[in-house]
Amino acid sequence: MTKNSSIDYSNRVPLEGVDDLFHRRWSPRAFDAKPVPQRDLEVIFEAARWSPSCFNEQPWRFLTSTASSRDRFLDLLLEGNQAWAKTAPVLGFITAEKLFARNGKPNDHAEFDAGAAWMALTLQARMRGLHTHGMAGIHRDRIYEDFGIDRQTTQLICAFALGYIGNPEILPEKYLANEKPSPRKPLADIWRPIS
Ligand SMILES: Cc1cc2nc3c(=O)[nH]c(=O)nc-3n(C[C@H](O)[C@H](O)[C@H](O)COP(=O)(O)O)c2cc1C
Repeated sequence: MTKNSSIDYSNRVPLEGVDDLFHRRWSPRAFDAKPVPQRDLEVIFEAARWSPSCFNEQPWRFLTSTASSRDRFLDLLLEGNQAWAKTAPVLGFITAEKLFARNGKPNDHAEFDAGAAWMALTLQARMRGLHTHGMAGIHRDRIYEDFGIDRQTTQLICAFALGYIGNPEILPEKYLANEKPSPRKPLADIWRPIS
């Protein structure tokens, strides 16, 4: 994993032993427009493919932009996200298949599994010097329509940006103060061993 020494990691003091991969993953808003090589994209989404899922259903689906469709994807983000995501070389949407292929019954864990796949691709991206940034702020109805996504069978989850970290100075002023890795709740707030 490449480390960028100009990034302020002071909010992140992990327990010794946790691999850098986890706490040096963060979601920048300043993306460099530099294109991501096709091979890196293939490896990143291949990593997602190996994620665990309920009954090995693999319900995750990723729609990603190419150079020619990036503006179409950008237009489907809420304006607050467009303001920074406009420089990201790759934009995408994550969906999950809501029904089990085996029996047509609802898969209540499809979104959980898609989240696991998202984290896998995010960490693989990080290992190749790239960052991701998830986005809930999207024009949901328009995305279902524009990509012909069937609401009966498919859940639109969120959007994401993928690319190399850029110079924060390209950001609109209001995003500057938060352009650094964020802190976390204490471990005791999220983990309760019960004896
Ligand atoms: C599902 C999801 C939706 C998010 N939506 C947005 C969003 O619409 N706009 C945004 O700027 N950041 C968004 N984020 C980024 C989070 O705010 C960010 O992950 C969180 O503050 C933790 O920071 P870190 O990822 O840098 O560690 C989203 C993240 C996730 C996982």
